[in-house]
Amino acid sequence: MNETMTVTALGSGGDGLAEAGADRLYIPFAAPGDRLLVARERKAGDGWRARIVERLADGPDRTAPACRHFGECGGCVVQHIAAPAYQAWKRARVVEAFAREGLDPGVIAPLVPAEPGDRRRLRLAVQPAGGRLLVGFNAAGSDRIVPISECPVAAPELVAILPALARGLAAIWPRRHAGDVALTLTEGGIDLLLVVPGTFGAPARTALARLAEDLDLARLSVAPDDRTAPEPVAIRRAPRVRFGGIAVTPPPGGFLQAGMRSEAVLSALVAEAVPAGATVADLHAGCGTFALAVAGKARRVLAFDRDAPALEALLAGARAGGVGNRVTVERRDLDRRPPTLAEMRTWTAAILDPPRAGAAALADALARSAVPRVVYVSCNPVTFARDAARLVAGGLRLEQATPVDQFLWSPHVELVAVFRRPA
Ligand SMILES: C[S@@+](CC[C@H](N)C(=O)[O-])C[C@H]1O[C@@H](n2cnc3c(N)ncnc32)[C@H](O)[C@@H]1O
Repeated sequence: MNETMTVTALGSGGDGLAEAGADRLYIPFAAPGDRLLVARERKAGDGWRARIVERLADGPDRTAPACRHFGECGGCVVQHIAAPAYQAWKRARVVEAFAREGLDPGVIAPLVPAEPGDRRRLRLAVQPAGGRLLVGFNAAGSDRIVPISECPVAAPELVAILPALARGLAAIWPRRHAGDVALTLTEGGIDLLLVVPGTFGAPARTALARLAEDLDLARLSVAPDDRTAPEPVAIRRAPRVRFGGIAVTPPPGGFLQAGMRSEAVLSALVAEAVPAGATVADLHAGCGTFALAVAGKARRVLAFDRDAPALEALLAGARAGGVGNRVTVERRDLDRRPPTLAEMRTWTAAILDPPRAGAAALADALARSAVPRVVYVSCNPVTFARDAARLVAGGLRLEQATPVDQFLWSPHVELVAVFRRPA
């Protein structure tokens, strides 16, 4: 049965929200103010998921989407919302998370907007299908693959290679397995990782090396799954990136911030918050995005992470970049073994940049410490606010939080927050 309704708001996941009597409807690709004919599809959370049958009248913030795949490809959820309303919605995600934890929303700066073409990392699904190989993004809420011919969020160099990549993979991909291909744009060119079950024998490796030549890749690596360290099959040029001007070669599949300009924004905010001459602990250092961005101004940088190959890359970069005498690395799972008070005694600043789950144990440890400054980079305002409340309860003052839009047209928002312990 179709129902007519008006969309009242955008939900946190990007769906339009509408009330139908006592029921809440979640309507993908709807905009606030839209008058719609919709059909309920299934129960979802505290309401119903519904699809648009017909748009009867458009809301004031509706705009034409930038990409022809919008609505089918699962990568973007809100391309149909004009920039001012879209950016206000993103910033509101942070304001709401602060409100839930009793944090002061007055410290939240304006959102730093994203730019199209900034994304340097793409991960595409690959699936053999009736003699063909499908390479693309998953469709919204499904594992159907949408082959893509354009992607306005991604760096043009990545988009340009996609047709040749799909043809090249079709010649070598194992017929029985679905998998993924991850592309990262680096100074040396594209760093490609194939994640596909099974092993590649000698003939397949020769074909992969040829594919690396044909596509002019910097490096091509393979891994059977995301838990196994990838193995480079062809290295034609070093897939280098730069942090604070220091060149680093990340391990295959290693974490990098997704956007080039957005990483520069995050790094500048972190570097600005770290005082010159500080002894800084970077507690989720990865391969050095922030550790090396502050190495030039710090007295010492102690880089922690549980990922050994990332730390090796960081240290190699620090040494080659002339700051090796200031940077030490330690492999450690900080959820299981947070820093002790004795370890933190010499720290004058700490940087946190945890995964989406946040860093509760670290927040508790820092709350108990005397560390005077904490810079928290977050990709999840909800877990950030939870951890921030712990830091504030431990006597740190939340002075500034800057939302940064790194994932254009998605529901994700990053932020950089600065905490100071009053003297
Ligand atoms: C969001 S990434 C950030 C990395 C780095 N700051 C950057 O910007 O490239 C999170 C990092 O935290 C590390 N990590 C996650 N859980 C951890 C834990 N329990 N202990 C130590 N490191 C952890 C991951 O290995 C990863 O490098």
